[in-house]
Amino acid sequence: MTTNNSLLHSHWSSRFAFILAATGSAVGLGNIWKFPYITGENGGGAFVLVYLVCVLLIGIPIMIAETMLGRRSQRNPVETMQMLTKEANADENWQYLGWMGMIAGVLILSYYSVIAGWASAYVVKAFTGSFFNADANAIQSLFDNFTASPLQLMFWHSVFMGATMWIVSRGVSHGLEKSVRFLMPSLFVLLILLVGYAMTTNSYQRGLHFMFNVDFSTLTRNSVLTAMGHAFFTLSLGMGSIMVYGAYLPKDISISKTTYLVAAADTIVALLAGIAIFPLVFEHNLHPASGPGLIFQTLPIAFGNMTGGWLMGILFFVLLVFAALSSSISLIEPLVAWLVENKNFTREKACIWSGLGTWFLGLGTVFSFNIWKDVHFFERTIFQLLDYITANLMLPIGGFCIAVFAGWIMHRDHTQSELQMPCKPSYELWRILVRYVAPASIFLVFLHVIGVL
Ligand code: TRP
Repeated sequence: MTTNNSLLHSHWSSRFAFILAATGSAVGLGNIWKFPYITGENGGGAFVLVYLVCVLLIGIPIMIAETMLGRRSQRNPVETMQMLTKEANADENWQYLGWMGMIAGVLILSYYSVIAGWASAYVVKAFTGSFFNADANAIQSLFDNFTASPLQLMFWHSVFMGATMWIVSRGVSHGLEKSVRFLMPSLFVLLILLVGYAMTTNSYQRGLHFMFNVDFSTLTRNSVLTAMGHAFFTLSLGMGSIMVYGAYLPKDISISKTTYLVAAADTIVALLAGIAIFPLVFEHNLHPASGPGLIFQTLPIAFGNMTGGWLMGILFFVLLVFAALSSSISLIEPLVAWLVENKNFTREKACIWSGLGTWFLGLGTVFSFNIWKDVHFFERTIFQLLDYITANLMLPIGGFCIAVFAGWIMHRDHTQSELQMPCKPSYELWRILVRYVAPASIFLVFLHVIGVL
């Protein structure tokens, strides 16, 4: 990343750097932890299909729109919305979109950090040989004992939040480009190896069947919303993460092509994770619908029983933590950038305050796995409620607004010159998707979940 003084932000050093950063944001716990467990909870194939359709028809066009908004203004999401609203002579209330995004980012990071803390703790467990020769029961009780301890969860949540804020305080670009360049491909290779292991089990076909056999009778109203919400979550859309990264993108780079690459990489990683995990679930008579502990209850069995499993286990969880880090920094960057650019905070001070606030909120999630396990609001634990409100409601609403803003409020000339798509038909296709298809689909899914459709 180089600094260009005529602009507010510094810039990514190349298109490749932006692709890495956006992939770093997109690929994270969402792909490896969340996708398998919600696929398990929502019955498999049909859910996966709805998710893929949402990525294609809603996710990709909105990702192009969100990147474009950031790049046009070269500012943080709150200022972006203020500036573009003025440019289009639109209603001032659009600026609240930037605000909602910052809040969603903090809420998501509060639980994201707790789960990333689990992954960090599992690095140590892998290292000390806790998985060695273990069977499904042993791995299950390892997980249960761990999550039953508020102190341990708090400790690892603090470690992860500390690491996130330390990186953010040094500037998002610093070191990020380099680490993502090396870590993402390594994670990919490891996932392929795990799929290879899954192939050697007797339940490989059964796992594949679960993931890809489409049976719509397994879909509930909420499953459809969860699938759509996950398309936003996994691509980091709807709250300003991608907008704030787009703000660092040089003007001469094609937004659409980079978006396709990022979305493809993100989807492939999620599918690989699923293909690696479900055969293990069936092989060891576990339940696909075991919930957020799914990867922690399955993969260690594989590491404990395969040759080279000790090293693989350590590497896997280390890489998962890094993938989570490159995502978590993008969750908090909109808030930090706003505090620094608009509220005159130093970067350090902005990081300390936003980090402390997020850490504190995270305690709700920590306790919802132990002492507050039975505290329910709307039939959900605090963790489940936070996840539902952010991923299923705030992100799709944010995405809806971004689509409407880019498609209906901004001048056509502005979006066209910003996107410079290689051929006219692809710009027209994007415009149809972002004006009609994406907003209408989001709206229909909401109607479906409240039972109108
Ligand atoms: N996409 C990341 C993951 O799958 C999480 C994430 C980062 C995110 N930034 C975001 C989710 C912004 C929603 C919005 O792990």
